[in-house]
Amino acid sequence: MVTGAGSGIGRAIASRLVAEGAQVAGLDVNTAALAALADSLGPAFAPMTVDVTVEAQVAEAVSATQHLLGGLDLAFNVAGAARNARIVDMPEEDWDFTIDLVQKSVFLCTKHVARAMRAADRPGSIVNVSSVNARIPMPGGSPYATGKAGVEMFTRNAALELAADGIRVNAVLPGLVDTPLVSSVLGDEQLTSAYLDRIPLGAPATPAQVAGPCLYLASDDASYITGASLAVDGGWTTTGYPQLGGRRD
Ligand SMILES: NC(=O)c1ccc[n+]([C@@H]2O[C@H](COP(=O)([O-])OP(=O)(O)OC[C@H]3O[C@@H](n4cnc5c(N)ncnc54)[C@H](O)[C@@H]3O)[C@@H](O)[C@H]2O)c1
Repeated sequence: MVTGAGSGIGRAIASRLVAEGAQVAGLDVNTAALAALADSLGPAFAPMTVDVTVEAQVAEAVSATQHLLGGLDLAFNVAGAARNARIVDMPEEDWDFTIDLVQKSVFLCTKHVARAMRAADRPGSIVNVSSVNARIPMPGGSPYATGKAGVEMFTRNAALELAADGIRVNAVLPGLVDTPLVSSVLGDEQLTSAYLDRIPLGAPATPAQVAGPCLYLASDDASYITGASLAVDGGWTTTGYPQLGGRRD
C-alpha cells in the first residue's frame, strides 16, 4: 500500500514495486493522477481515492487492499503537502491542515495497517516518508517541520510497539526531490542555486533515488533494521539550511 501514489515519490515507489513484481494499492486524493498511473502500470496497480487524514477512509482502504490483493505486507506512508506562513501570520486552520496531513495521516495509516497485519498474523514492514525538515527548520514551514519531526519520533515509537508483532517501521528523510511539491523552488534558478549550495552532491534527487532506499528499508535485506531514520539528502544535513536571498560564494 502506497499513499500519495498519484505523484512524485509515491508514484516512483508504486512504479518500482510493480516493476519488482508486487501488487500495489495506490491511495491518493487525486483520482485523475491515479487513473493515469493505473493506465501505465496495468492490473498490478489498484487505484483508491482516499483522503489519508480521514480515519474511516484509511480503515476502508486498508480493508479493501487486503480483500483485493489477498493480503498486506508493505506500507509506504508518503502523502504530504504543506501550507506555509510565518508563525505570526499562520492561520490556525493552515496549521491544522498541515499537521493533519503530514503527521496524523502517518498515525492513522500505521494504526490500521498494523491492525490488519496483526489480525492476519502476517508480519510486515512500514516506511514513513519524513523530511530533512525533521531536523532543519524552514522559514515559514513551522507546521511542516514540526510534523515531519513528529513522524521521525512516531516511527521510533511504532517500531518499539510493533516489534513484538514482527512489524518493522522505519523512516526516510528526503532532502530536495524533483517533484511537483517543490516546483516553485526548482522553477527559480536563483532559489535552486541557493539550495544546491547546501547540497554536497550538487543536484536534487529524482523520485526514483528516494524510492530505492524506501524499498530497501521495506525489504528483507533490512530485516534487522527498525526505528531507523535514513537521510536521503545528497549530504544536505551535513551542511545546513540555505541562506535564502544571501548566497555564499
Ligand atoms: N519533494 C521534496 O523535495 C520532498 C522533500 C522531503 C520530503 N518530501 C515528502 O515526500 C512526500 C511526497 O512528496 P512529493 O514531493 O512526492 O509530493 P507530490 O506533491 O509530488 O505528491 C504528493 C501526493 O500526495 C497526495 N496527497 C495530498 N494530500 C493527500 C491526502 N489528504 N490524502 C491522500 N493523498 C494526498 C497528492 O495528491 C500527491 O499526489 C511528502 O510527504 C513530502 O512532504 C518531499
